[in-house]
Amino acid sequence: MAKSKTIRIGVFGCWRGHAYIRSLVNGKIPGCRITALCDKKQDRIQSCLEDLPKGRLAPKVFSDPEEFFDSKLFDAVFLINYFNEHAKWAVKALEKNIHVFSETMAASTMADAVALCRAAEKSKAIYMMAENYPHSKGNLELKKVYESGTLGKVLFAEGEYVHPMSPNESRRYRDPSVQGPYHWRRFNPITYYCSHALAPLMYMTGEMPKRVVGMCAYTPEEVRQIYHSKKAESVGVMLITTDGDAVFRVNGSSSMGPHGNWYRLACTKGGAETIRGNQRKVRVAYNSWNKPEDWEESEKTYEAEWPSDAEIADAAGHGGGDYWVVRKFIESIRGENTPFPNVYQACAMSAVGILGWRSILNGNIPYDIPDFSNEEERKKWQDDRQFPYPSEDAPNNIPFTSRPVTDAGDWN
Ligand SMILES: NC(=O)c1ccc[n+]([C@@H]2O[C@H](COP(=O)([O-])OP(=O)(O)OC[C@H]3O[C@@H](n4cnc5c(N)ncnc54)[C@H](O)[C@@H]3O)[C@@H](O)[C@H]2O)c1
Repeated sequence: MAKSKTIRIGVFGCWRGHAYIRSLVNGKIPGCRITALCDKKQDRIQSCLEDLPKGRLAPKVFSDPEEFFDSKLFDAVFLINYFNEHAKWAVKALEKNIHVFSETMAASTMADAVALCRAAEKSKAIYMMAENYPHSKGNLELKKVYESGTLGKVLFAEGEYVHPMSPNESRRYRDPSVQGPYHWRRFNPITYYCSHALAPLMYMTGEMPKRVVGMCAYTPEEVRQIYHSKKAESVGVMLITTDGDAVFRVNGSSSMGPHGNWYRLACTKGGAETIRGNQRKVRVAYNSWNKPEDWEESEKTYEAEWPSDAEIADAAGHGGGDYWVVRKFIESIRGENTPFPNVYQACAMSAVGILGWRSILNGNIPYDIPDFSNEEERKKWQDDRQFPYPSEDAPNNIPFTSRPVTDAGDWN
């Protein structure tokens, strides 16, 4: 990366935010410095401070986000706050010409997605969603192979992010005495957290979602009670058609065994996939009659290689994705790279989760995903504020479970 002005970074949300701090410090990504932290939980701020410079170079800490955003202490913000509150703060930052790196998902209502696109267009700052899974070793290799053209055109692709939680993890996230009664993880509809499954497929192929149908599997009642879940669903699957006439099958953030991510591209001349249980390895296979001339056999399974910085990437979280996604953001601010997902891609992914859920609630009917770069298309959704998360101030105005759950045990 070329040497230029230091980029000052503010981090809002110091739990997952701590992982990004580790990706940035100790000169791992040169030319940036963390100058401000914001979290209402002081223990989380303290734990981040342990990994940051002391004295004159120590970041200023805030518990109130309004004061944090008004502080003028940073050029770029990492929004690692609650899942369902990113768009509001992203708009605020963009209005102040602060570059935004927003955790998943970009928006939790269609209206918020429209407002976010408009704010990004007016701003002098850039927007990028902090979607790390496109940058895992295996997924970067699949992108490279697809872009080489030897596989032909994608016809069908699959992305899975499967994240069951043990009863203990479940308690950490869902017990109201730990996280409060309104934490987003208690109410997240089964399709909403879909970017870890979908973003890698979009990044590899360049295709955009155009239409979605959602389906779900229900947890047996005796199992649901073990995890005290307030939701009836364990698995949310979406079938998506793309602007390139392909079909993607996306399994959002499902609770089924076993844990893991998996991605597959099936194309006109062959296919490529990561190996289940090993994110670093890929299998590339061609139709025998479409095999590249310099390949002896029609298929190979091999360990992928990082483009560079192997040691730093191997040490970073989420299969190395945490390093590359931050680096891409910093390079994009400097004009040396292009954000992915940009605001339109990020909002399309949010819409897949939001409308995929609506499909489930409405008998699996299909919904069209608007082109968020087109004002005429997105305008139709500007007042759509269906929101599944209850809060202290207001109840949810769309269900977060597609079958009522009457008893969530002692975590009701
Ligand atoms: N990309 C990944 O691999 C990955 C992994 C984990 C979490 N995440 C994302 O990171 C985000 C945060 O998740 P998390 O796991 O850290 O849990 P979380 O949502 O509980 O943490 C959010 C943090 O922000 C703070 N916060 C939120 N609103 C605040 C406010 N108004 N004022 C002050 N502090 C406030 C909370 O105190 C908390 O420490 C979510 O969007 C989640 O989807 C992404």
